[in-house]
Amino acid sequence: MYASKIVSVGYYVPENVVTNKDLEKLMDTSDAWIIERTGIQERRHIKPGDGNTTSVMGVKAAKNALEKAGMDADEIDLIVFATLSPTLYFPGGGVEVQEMLTKRTIPALDIRNQCSGFVYGLSVADQFIKTGMYKNVLVIGSENHSGGLDMTTRGRGVSVIFGDGAGAVVLSRAEEGDTSRILSTHLHSQGEHKRELILEGPSTQRWVPELIEENPQEDIPYYPYMNGQYVFKHAITRFSEVINEGLEANNLSVEDINLFIPHQANLRISQFVQRKFRLSDEQVFNNIQKYGNTTAASIPIALAEAVEEDKLQRGDLLVLAAFGSGFTWGSAIIRW
Ligand code: ACO
Repeated sequence: MYASKIVSVGYYVPENVVTNKDLEKLMDTSDAWIIERTGIQERRHIKPGDGNTTSVMGVKAAKNALEKAGMDADEIDLIVFATLSPTLYFPGGGVEVQEMLTKRTIPALDIRNQCSGFVYGLSVADQFIKTGMYKNVLVIGSENHSGGLDMTTRGRGVSVIFGDGAGAVVLSRAEEGDTSRILSTHLHSQGEHKRELILEGPSTQRWVPELIEENPQEDIPYYPYMNGQYVFKHAITRFSEVINEGLEANNLSVEDINLFIPHQANLRISQFVQRKFRLSDEQVFNNIQKYGNTTAASIPIALAEAVEEDKLQRGDLLVLAAFGSGFTWGSAIIRW
């Protein structure tokens, strides 16, 4: 059995910065409310005409990761692409990434696990490398939330939270004797809670003509719905469980953690988990303040910035954990 290691991390965020003050002009909200409840100060939104789509941003993040690895796109054996906001209904974004990156007809796998998408993708890639089937895998998380948010007061409970961006890692087979590796990944789902964080239509259950005919103003299935407090309570429980599960599987304890990067859902969720595990500020990395919640992209964007800021040294124990719509959740325990 082989092992896999993260060789490099890249990211891309659109240039267009949207501050809380900008949102005040669109809806009944305030900078103070958003900062107090979420920690977010600003986020990035694609600007119509700037050429960005979910797949394009994914490619930009992937190219950044490849450049840092000193690798050519043609060395990649598999693309794993996670998003909840694909450019097209079908085909998935993975094939668009393949089209833009390489002439080789390598497989492209789409992951639909929302905020947990990157951890799910990393886990899948890890298995392919462990078995020896592939040597170099690109794992990408990318989101274009701004294209589908209700930017009126009606949607403020959701719309202020989410931002656009993409992150990517190159995952490769670890050389013999190399201690850097993914130690384990842990994945979960509980579909009974699917309606608590959902975008229902258009879907095969509620297709476009039906939506146009109904045009419901109170129940708006084509915008995301989130039961915020319900999600919050489940998130803090599942984050804690899945971190403990990962540590126990490797006979490690909280004291062994050098860096914890949670999915950037909400600063209050991250701070709650930090307090629960008694982690210091140096042991936890957050950047939701600048980018909002970028769902499948949030962990690789944060990881890329943590690396840029020299927060990780060789041999460090890195813990990633995510929770989101589905509900789905997961963790990755990584020796850097
Ligand atoms: N600006 C001003 N007021 C607002 C806004 C806003 N943007 N959004 C909601 N409000 C109002 C509500 O209408 C409500 O008013 P009312 O009391 O007159 O009815 C009041 O603020 C309180 O609303 P709550 O929803 O109860 O506010 P809460 O304290 O729960 O905060 C939040 C909302 C931030 C969404 C919170 O529930 C939360 O953090 N939930 C966690 C979910 C999360 O982080 N999701 C991220 C995506 S999922 C994921 O990545 C895991």
